[in-house]
Amino acid sequence: PLATTGDLVARAAAGRVAVPAFNVITLEHVEAVVAGAEAAGAPVVLQVSENAVKFHRGRLLPLARAATAVAEQAAVEVALHLDHVQSDDLLRRAPEAGFSSVMYDAAHLPYADNLAATRAAADWAHAHGLWIEAELGQVGGKDGQPALDAHTPGARTDPDEAREFVAESGVDALAVAVGSSHAMTTRTAALDHDLIARLAAALDVPLVLHGSSGVPDDELTAAVGGGITKVNVGTALNVAMTAAVRDLLADRPDAVDPRGYLGAGREAMTETARRITDLLRAAT
Ligand code: G3H
Ligand code: ZN
Repeated sequence: PLATTGDLVARAAAGRVAVPAFNVITLEHVEAVVAGAEAAGAPVVLQVSENAVKFHRGRLLPLARAATAVAEQAAVEVALHLDHVQSDDLLRRAPEAGFSSVMYDAAHLPYADNLAATRAAADWAHAHGLWIEAELGQVGGKDGQPALDAHTPGARTDPDEAREFVAESGVDALAVAVGSSHAMTTRTAALDHDLIARLAAALDVPLVLHGSSGVPDDELTAAVGGGITKVNVGTALNVAMTAAVRDLLADRPDAVDPRGYLGAGREAMTETARRITDLLRAAT
């Protein structure tokens, strides 16, 4: 059934586990993530990024409605989250499209501008029943940008600044920069577990890890133990899907029916989603 992100995150926090949030681009991603969560027997967040909306030529509703239909018929709870929103126009389309939550992304702006934009977004979100996540510090690696050097000022999230940012913006969760980076195709990120612990102690809202595809299993488990409550995964699904499609087409150069290669891609994503969902549920 359809659930809300706020409920799933609150329950994960109470159980000292994390809820996985997978980025979905196509219907096959949606079907795979839900099948993987069903196989693991645990709730999941389906998230649609602003970039995925751009891929669908600016349309949010077709994928949102498909995701809603799959969620409603799922054997586990499934929430819909709008991810990495920079456009106020897109933010305002979230409630009618069936999203219970948004991540508002102004982390590329200087601190004061990030705070002002996030506070305005949070006011609007709360007035319209949305749970809202924002980012402080820079995870990096998004839209082809290079990963930031950990020593770049503002790259890592500062706990004192984070406490002020959450109090003054009123957000419900905070995405933190603790050593992960977006769009990694190898699982080689090393997280700053001391910083995660200090952030968890400083804040009374859940912490969100972005760029989790590049984080090895043991690092992810430790991060969840340290207080990460929502784990965002995108690239790992795409790595699995693309490898399966490439293999199938190499084996069968005459194949023309998309159900053959999209089906192989969907199976590969299902297994990835199941594995990560199992890992996060077991992590303490
Ligand atoms: O918001 C989305 C996530 O941060 C996904 O990052 O594609 O590197 O796993 P990833
Ligand atoms: Zn992200």
